Amino acid sequence: MKLLVTGGAGFIGSNFIHYMMKNYPSDTIINFDLLTYAGNLENLEDIRKNPNYHFVHGNICNDELLDYVIDQFAVDAIVNFAAESHVDRSITEPGVFIKTNVLGTQTLLEVAKNKHIHKYLQVSTDEVYGTLGSTGYFKETTPLAPNSPYASSKASADLVVRAYYETYGINTNITRCSNNYGPYHFPEKLIPLIITNALENKKLPVYGDGKNVRDWLYVEDHCRAIDLVLHRGKPGEVYNVGGHHEMRNIDLIELILDKLHKPNSLIKHVSDRPGHDRRYAIDPTKITTELGWHPQFTLEQGLNKTIQWYQTHMEWWHKIKSGSYMDYYKKHYGSS
Ligand code: NAD
Ligand code: DAU
Repeated sequence: MKLLVTGGAGFIGSNFIHYMMKNYPSDTIINFDLLTYAGNLENLEDIRKNPNYHFVHGNICNDELLDYVIDQFAVDAIVNFAAESHVDRSITEPGVFIKTNVLGTQTLLEVAKNKHIHKYLQVSTDEVYGTLGSTGYFKETTPLAPNSPYASSKASADLVVRAYYETYGINTNITRCSNNYGPYHFPEKLIPLIITNALENKKLPVYGDGKNVRDWLYVEDHCRAIDLVLHRGKPGEVYNVGGHHEMRNIDLIELILDKLHKPNSLIKHVSDRPGHDRRYAIDPTKITTELGWHPQFTLEQGLNKTIQWYQTHMEWWHKIKSGSYMDYYKKHYGSS
């Protein structure tokens, strides 16, 4: 397969490229990425010289460049990870979320249509479903009810994908996964922020009462789900991905502190996120029964691996945390 992976320099995209190069060494992968603040080619340094891996610096809104790349490499499938992905940033700067996540997706689909691409896979999110109360699960049939500008841009993109399947018959799939964590996770997101701040004995900002629930999945389990959908997903179908690893933020933070032998006194409650979804939880029955997907890592195993990765890759995150990200952090959380 000749696979165009957009957003491959980000967290999940770079893990996916590693996963695919390991499991399909004769496939060709073209990583197409704009290298925004979240894109980092150091994530892929070890495979940079592999002849089956290519990097193209570009914007998914640029149809001419996409046309050229698809012809040049005779691309037959696209997996779209490229997005603005951080909910907090979408609250302060929503415009770029609409441009990249909605217009970028439509541009990719139009190119996929014109170039007769065999498969287009959209990596979406459970956030398109909005929030749950204390019971229940998101199914593929749950109505879309996004609450943040980020979630609304992803939901809009999903609708555009649907339209390209229904109208033009493009072979599309959408995956909607719960919260990922693991290596190369940018430290603006909860788990890497907590691990790296705790390692530096810095305060750990907890939004509101900390009782919001997220359903955590180790990134490699998500990559395996995308691989299955890419190869065996039924045209036009949506697949939810999640491993039933629900946890309240405050409990997760205390668990991480415990594993790092750091005191709970580092925890600092701060103002809540506006429109903060209370609970996410995925029902993965469809992908489990149709495609045989199961998570291979428990939350305990995944967290241990992740903590160990951040402890042994300090240089990777020190560089990020000392760069322009620091300005964002200070503006968002103050200087503590
Ligand atoms: P990320 O922010 O770490 O990476 C996004 C990547 O996209 C970066 O490399 C960035 O440079 C690139 N990018 C941004 N705008 C671009 C553009 N216009 N053109 C080309 N490249 C561009 O994101 P992530 O956490 O790895 O998420 C990847 C995808 O998975 C996103 O679509 C996100 O919505 C989805 N998702 C994420 C999670 C999660 O927990 N992180 C869960 C479910 C779904
Ligand atoms: O559910 C999938 C989504 O998960 C993805 O679509 C998004 O791209 C990804 O960023 C993630 O969104 P969340 O908003 O759930 O993740 P985040 O790590 O930002 O926050 C997780 C929870 O922790 C959420 O309830 C907010 C809270 N939080 C977050 C930060 C950054 C805090 O309490 N303090 C913090 O400093």
